[in-house]
Amino acid sequence: MNTNTSVIRLKSSLQESIAELLNGQIGMEARSSFSYLGMSSWCYTQGLNGSGDFFKKQSGEERGHMLRIFDYMVDAGAQPLVPEIKKVDQHYEGLRDVLVKALEQEIAITHSFNNIVDNCHKIKDYVTIKFLQWFLEEQLEEEQQARRCVELFDLIGTEDGGLFRIDKEIIRLKAEDMTKHVPKTM
Ligand code: FEO
Repeated sequence: MNTNTSVIRLKSSLQESIAELLNGQIGMEARSSFSYLGMSSWCYTQGLNGSGDFFKKQSGEERGHMLRIFDYMVDAGAQPLVPEIKKVDQHYEGLRDVLVKALEQEIAITHSFNNIVDNCHKIKDYVTIKFLQWFLEEQLEEEQQARRCVELFDLIGTEDGGLFRIDKEIIRLKAEDMTKHVPKTM
């Protein structure tokens, strides 16, 4: 072990196994951000501007999640790693395919957070568990929103200009989400 490594270990309150998992999560959030940007781009090219805006906002939120973990690791004296991002597949069979893939992505992220929390419990890392609480609640909302998008698609259907209506409803979900997050004191 060289001197630098031992200094870093002494400074960090995070165990290496948890730091590794958090770095993995940084990668997952970054990929999610890029994947949503790809979905946004696909939607815009189809004239689905509401959905394009929805996924662009979602992409920004995922980047925010990545930075939240980044900051926590820095605060804990660990080193966050900048992830390598694979090329994003931007081919979709249609808007429903995009929406289903977005939902699957959110479910995978929830599983990943649950796995980190499980591991924190094993080593009694209560501070990280507390930090991750925000993400678990956020995931509940994001999964619910993604599921609602698929539901709206199936309920409205694509007949008689349905796609146009679906597109309008999808961006409305994001607007409702913003209102929900206005602090009560305002
Ligand atoms: Fe950052 Fe939607 O998970």
